[in-house]
Parts: sequence; C-alpha cells; structure tokens
Amino acid sequence: MDTKLVILVLVGLIQQISGTSVICYHGTWSHYRLGNGKFSVSDVPAKLCTHYIYTFVGLDSDTNEVKSLDSWLDINLNGLNDANALKTVNPNLKTLLAVGGWNDGSAKYSVMAANATSRATFIASALKWVQKYNFDGFDIDWEYPARRDSSNPADKENFSKLIKEFYKTFHPLGLLVTAAVSAAPSYIDISYDVPALSKYLDFINVMLYDFHGAWENTASHNAPLYSAARFAGTVYADYSVNASIHGWISRGASPSKLALGVPFYGRNNILSNPDKTAPGSATTATGGVAGPYTATSGFLGYNEIIEKFNEGGWTTAWDDEQKVPYAFSGTTWLSYENKESLTLKVAYAKSLCLGAIMLWSIETEDFLGLSGTKYPLLEIIHNELNSNETADSSSSTKTASATTTTTSTTTTTPTTTTVSTTTTTTTTPTASSTSSSSSSTSSSTTSASEITKEDVCTAPGYFRSSANCRVFYYCQLSGIRYIVTKLICSAGLFYDTKLGICNYEKAVTC
Ligand SMILES: *[C@@H]1O[C@H](CO)[C@@H](O)[C@H](O)[C@H]1NC(C)=O
Ligand SMILES: *[C@@H]1O[C@H](CO)[C@@H](O)[C@H](O)[C@H]1NC(C)=O
Ligand SMILES: *[C@@H]1O[C@H](CO)[C@@H](O)[C@H](O)[C@H]1NC(C)=O
Ligand SMILES: *[C@@H]1O[C@H](CO)[C@@H](O)[C@H](O)[C@H]1NC(C)=O
Repeated sequence: MDTKLVILVLVGLIQQISGTSVICYHGTWSHYRLGNGKFSVSDVPAKLCTHYIYTFVGLDSDTNEVKSLDSWLDINLNGLNDANALKTVNPNLKTLLAVGGWNDGSAKYSVMAANATSRATFIASALKWVQKYNFDGFDIDWEYPARRDSSNPADKENFSKLIKEFYKTFHPLGLLVTAAVSAAPSYIDISYDVPALSKYLDFINVMLYDFHGAWENTASHNAPLYSAARFAGTVYADYSVNASIHGWISRGASPSKLALGVPFYGRNNILSNPDKTAPGSATTATGGVAGPYTATSGFLGYNEIIEKFNEGGWTTAWDDEQKVPYAFSGTTWLSYENKESLTLKVAYAKSLCLGAIMLWSIETEDFLGLSGTKYPLLEIIHNELNSNETADSSSSTKTASATTTTTSTTTTTPTTTTVSTTTTTTTTPTASSTSSSSSSTSSSTTSASEITKEDVCTAPGYFRSSANCRVFYYCQLSGIRYIVTKLICSAGLFYDTKLGICNYEKAVTC
C-alpha cells in the first residue's frame, strides 16, 4: 500500500467512529463511459463512504412493483451483487438500492401512492429486491410529489403514508429507509410532510444543487451556500444551502436526520459577453458544452472539470457573498466546488449537527487523481469532518479551524486567480483573504444535541442563550409545545445571531 492509500484508509476508519455519515450516491451507468470516464460498481472507494446508494431501479406502472431499468447492467454484469460485495472491503458500509430519479418521472408514483393496495405491493416488491441482493435498505427518489408530471396535491400526504408504511415493514427487519428530496422551502411546502418524513426516514437526503444552470439567462451558481442579495424578492431568494436547510429544520426536520447534499459536478453555460463574468451576468440560456464522459449539455463532472482546468486557459474566482467558486474561459462560465466551498459546507453541517454529508455522485469524483490526488473531494469532506472541532465540546484543546480562510463579507469584488496549465483549482482562490472580519465557517456544536425542556422558546428557530454566547437553542414547534434542542459552539466560537452559525469570538457581538 502506498502512503496515500494508507491515509485514505485511516481517514475512512476514523470517520466511522466520529459519527457524521458520508452518503455516496452512484449513477451506475458510469460503467458504460469510455476512457477516463469509466467507473464501475467495483471501483467504488468503499472505505470513504459510510453509505453507498446504487441508482436507479424503477417503478413498473402496470404491476406497481420495482423493476430493473437496465437488467444487463444490474444483473448480467453483476452490478447489484458487486454493490454488496463492497462490504468485504468495508464491513461497516451500509448499502441502499434507490428507486426513481429524474427520468422515472412523478406521475406513476402518484398513482401508486394514492392506493393502499398498490403501496403495499410496491413495498413488498422493494423488500424482495433488497433481501435478494443483500442491501441494507431502500432509498426513494420520487422526483417529486405533486410536481412535474403529477399535479395531484394529495401526493404530499400519500408520500408520507408510503414512507410510514416502508418504515413499518423495513425497521423491524433492521433495514434502512431513506429518501432524496428537493431542497428549496417553496418546494418543501408542495411535496413534503416534514415531521412525518423526519420521524420515519433514517436520512432525508436533501438535494442542495441544481439551483441554477444553463436553462436560465444569467450566470448563477449550481449550489451556493448562501443566498445572494440580487435575488431578494424573487423566487430565487431561498435557492441556497442555508435557506433550504433552515427551511427543512424550521418545518420540523430533526437535524440529525438531514443529509446535506453536495454536488461532485459543476454547471456551465454560455456568457452573452465574455467580458462580463461576474455572477448575475447575462448568459444565452442555450446550454453549455457537454463533457466527454457525462455527455450532457450544461453539466460537467468534477473529473471533467479537472481535465479542462489541466488544459489551461481558465480564470477562477471566488464569490464571497455566496461562498462558492466559479471559473470562466472564453464564453464558458462554470459553477463548481473547490476545497474552500466544500470545507465551508461541511463546517456548516457540523455547526447545525446535521446527520450526514450526501454526495451526488461518486462516479464524477477525480477518482484517477488527475488533480494530483485521488478522491480529493472526499478527502476534503473527511478532513473537515475529522478536524479538531468535531471533538466533543467537553474536550478542552480546541481552536478555531485552520481551514476557514474566507474573506470579509464586505468584499464586493471577487478575488480572481488565473489557473496555470498544470495546477488545479483546489489550491487557488481566496489568496487575498486578509481581513477576516467575519469568518463564516466554523465548527461547533454540542456533544449530543441533548433535548432539554427550557423556557427559552417564544418562536420557532434558533436563539442564543442570554447567559452564555457559546450556547444556543433550536426551538421546534410540535403541536402547541416547543421541543428545545440545546447546542454548544466549540471553544473559541460564539453563536453568531446575524449569520446563524458558530463564528469566531472576535467576529461576534456578545
Ligand atoms: C391519496 O390520494 C388520493 C387522491 O389522489 C386520495 O383519494 C387518497 O385518499 C389519498 N390518501 C391515501 C392514504 O390513499
Ligand atoms: C386500488 O388498487 C387495487 C388493485 O389494483 C384495486 O382493486 C382497487 O380498486 C384500487 N382502489 C381504489 C380506491 O382505486
Ligand atoms: C489538533 O489536534 C492535534 C492532536 O490532538 C494537535 O496536535 C493539533 O495541534 C490540533 N490542531 C489544532 C489546529 O488545534
Ligand atoms: C441563513 O438562513 C437563516 C434562516 O433563513 C437566516 O436567518 C440567515 O440570515 C442566513 N444566513 C446568511 C448568511 O444568509
């Protein structure tokens, strides 16, 4: 074993002890990709994931049973068996089989979920598949209840019925039930009975990406951490990780059930004027160049992005308002993730005690190491999850994170850095971050989000303790009473009531 591999193995083992799950989705059709894009189930780095989700099987609308969407791949080529053979590499790995996805549509799920007999048939069939191939659970990716080709408002109630019935069948057998859900608060209200989902699902996989893309006529980010002022008063105002996660929690999701989804891909589109590159600049809304492996206009896997950066000619920049990078080359504008953005998102998940980081998807990670490191994005996730701040708040030696190099929020012009032909983006942006007046990341939190009954709640949401700036409470309305969760920021951090996160003491008015 080389040292790199040893480190990755250790990181994987440590992660399983530290608690936050890492849920790896896999679009298994990546087996068919050519050259550097080919990635099969047996290639999955099982030690770097706590959960592996095999996508997708579908719903047969004639029988209401689960069906293979590609029996050559699933069965002849042994995909389903290979998925569970990953447990020989990582005995602690939990594997799940996912049904649905974008291409399977919504309408037939609506019909199935509306009828108790059909639901029972579907659940029994799902159980048969799970047991036959030795999965540890089932993941439901109905995209989305009461939306797209289903306009049935009853989907919301029927979906939660379906989930509850799944739970009643699966849990006594020790099997997991999870679901992938859309993120933005405006969509939550259409599709999801949040308290029911939070009660009956093991994880709510929040798809915190695809907020913007080449279908729009401005250059905007795929997966921003925070919302932008330019969207205030528009439908896009809550298209961010922060607004969505708060949207789920404030509607009754237990933070420990939420999986914060991060994209292992970027979205590209075409600038109307190559000299106007700032976020919000005009684009043609005609798609973008497709990558050689994913072959989808306006979409580039992280591995494809690395190959393009390695070819040179790109300028990268950091949007300090939304805490994500972007890049441009000629008329191409690209929204993607780098070390800074991913670290901030993981720190954010830690600060709210979320149960997991979820990623879509493992087959577009830089698994060949063309950036210089194999699985660099997973390494960033594990490093941040295992950084000192994950230690529980009773341990005394903790300092603020060394990775929080974010710039002052007062900066209005992005810092730009030209990528040379051989370097990669993970080392570039934010070089000029000297004035750290507000470092918006950080870490935190309680030892075990202990539930207390204190008289601190007058409204739903987060409130800082008046006695101790490190202590804050989450107040969740349950019927006519509040459930109070007490949370504690790591040593050196205070709860920042303005940003809604644990922040450096000097940046917080206490
Ligand atoms: C589901 O939706 C249908 C309408 O499409 C409704 O008649 C039914 O009562 C709903 N609830 C359940 C639990 O089936
Ligand atoms: C539900 O589905 C079953 C089986 O297909 C059918 O016999 C029954 O009539 C359906 N119930 C309703 C209320 O549509
Ligand atoms: C993190 O913990 C390690 C070992 O406990 C220690 O050596 C290191 O100095 C700590 N780093 C920071 C930034 O506190
Ligand atoms: C994060 O979301 C919360 C709840 O919507 C909001 O109060 C807070 O201002 C947001 N933080 C930032 C930095 O936008």
